[in-house]
Amino acid sequence: MTTVPVSLGERSYEVRVEPGLLERAGEVLEPYAGKRPFVIVTDENVAAQPFFWTLYNALSSVGPAPQVIKLPPGESTKSWSQLETLTDRLIELGVERSDHVIALGGGVIGDLVGFAASVVKRGCNFIQIPTTLLAQVDSSVGGKTAINSRAGKNLIGAFHQPALVLIDPDTLDTLPPRETRAGYAEIVKYGLIDDPDFFGWCEANGTALLNGSGAAREYAIAKSVAAKAAIVSEDERETTGRRALLNLGHTFGHALEADTGFSDRLLHGEAVAAGMALAFAYSVRRGECSGQEAGRIAGHLRTAGLPASLADAGVSASGETLVGYMLHDKKMAGGTLPFLLARGIGQTYLAKNVDLADVAAFLDESRDR
Ligand code: NAD
Ligand code: GLY
Repeated sequence: MTTVPVSLGERSYEVRVEPGLLERAGEVLEPYAGKRPFVIVTDENVAAQPFFWTLYNALSSVGPAPQVIKLPPGESTKSWSQLETLTDRLIELGVERSDHVIALGGGVIGDLVGFAASVVKRGCNFIQIPTTLLAQVDSSVGGKTAINSRAGKNLIGAFHQPALVLIDPDTLDTLPPRETRAGYAEIVKYGLIDDPDFFGWCEANGTALLNGSGAAREYAIAKSVAAKAAIVSEDERETTGRRALLNLGHTFGHALEADTGFSDRLLHGEAVAAGMALAFAYSVRRGECSGQEAGRIAGHLRTAGLPASLADAGVSASGETLVGYMLHDKKMAGGTLPFLLARGIGQTYLAKNVDLADVAAFLDESRDR
C-alpha cells in the first residue's frame, strides 16, 4: 500500500493506493461510518462491474447495506438537472453534514458528487473511489469539483476537498483501452511539467502500463498522485500559479475539445495529449525549446496511441477559430490568456505575454503540416 498525504491544514487527507483495496473497504471505511448507511453514488456502467459488488459487500460486512444512487454515464451527467436529482436524493436519504458520501466512478461522478457534497446542507463530507485511470491520477485529488453550464465546461463548481481517496488499481481491469490511454496522457503530463526522469520512465514503461502491467500501473499512479498532492498542498486554489502548471496542454486541448463538440470524437485526455504536443511545438517556434525534445514527446504520445497534432486529433479548423474557443476559457484573466509553455522536458512555465494572433498563425502552420 502506498499512502500519499495531501497536506492542507484542517482539510488534509490521505490518498491510499493498493491493488485489492476494495476488498478491504469495510475495515478501511468503518471509521468514516455515520449513523446512517453509507451512500454510494456511481454511474450505470460502473454499477455493472464486479468491483461494485466487492465494495457493496465489503461495506455490508461491517454495517448496514449501503444505499446506492446510480446516474447515467457520460459527460452530460455533469449538469444542473443531474445535480438537482442527486442533491434531492441525498436529502431524501437524510444525509447529514458529518456523513461521508462515496463517489465511485470516473471524473464525471467525482466532479458531480464533490460539488453536490459542497452544497448539501451547506457542505457534507465525501470520499473519492476513482475507477478510471484519469480519475486515479488526477481528478480525484485536489478538490476541484464542478458541473458544466451552457456557457462551457466546469464553469459552475467549488473547491471541496474529499475526506479520503481510495485507489484500487485493479478496478482498471474493466476500463476500455481508449479510456486507459486517455488517462495515461495525464500521467505523462507530470513528467513534462517538472520531472524529466519520470518522462524517461514513461518512455521505458508506458507500453507495459497500457498492456496491463500491475507493477507499472501502481508505480505510475502513486508517482502521479504524489506529484499532484505536492502541487495542491502548495497552491490549493490556484492563486500563486503553481497549480496552474497542472493545466499543461489544456488551453490548446480545450480548443480541440470545443471544435469536436466535447464529444467522444476526442476524449479529454486525448485533447490534453495533443494539447501538450502543441504547447511544446509552439515553444519550439518561440525559440524556447529544442525541436528534438518536442519530437521526443510527440513520438512517445503516438507510441501510446494518443494524438500529437491537429491532424491526429481530427481537427481541421482554422487557427482563428481555435483561438476563438480559447477566448472562452475560464482561465482568461484581464483580457489575456496565460499559456503553459516549456523550455524543455520537465521545464514547464506559465507565459503571460502570449500574442494570440501568433498562436493562430502557429496553428495554421501546424494544420498544414
Ligand atoms: P468518465 O467519468 O466519463 O468515465 C469514462 C467512462 O468509463 C464512463 O463511461 C464510465 O462509466 C466508465 N468507467 C468508469 N470506470 C470504469 C471501470 N473501472 N470499468 C469500466 N468502465 C468504467 O470520464 P473520466 O475520463 O474519468 O473523467 C472525465 C471528467 O473528469 C471530465 O468531466 C473532466 O472535466 C473531469 N476532470 C476533472 C478534474 C479535476 O481536477 N476535478 C481533472 C481532470 C478531469
Ligand atoms: N486537473 C487540474 C487541477 O486539478 O488543478
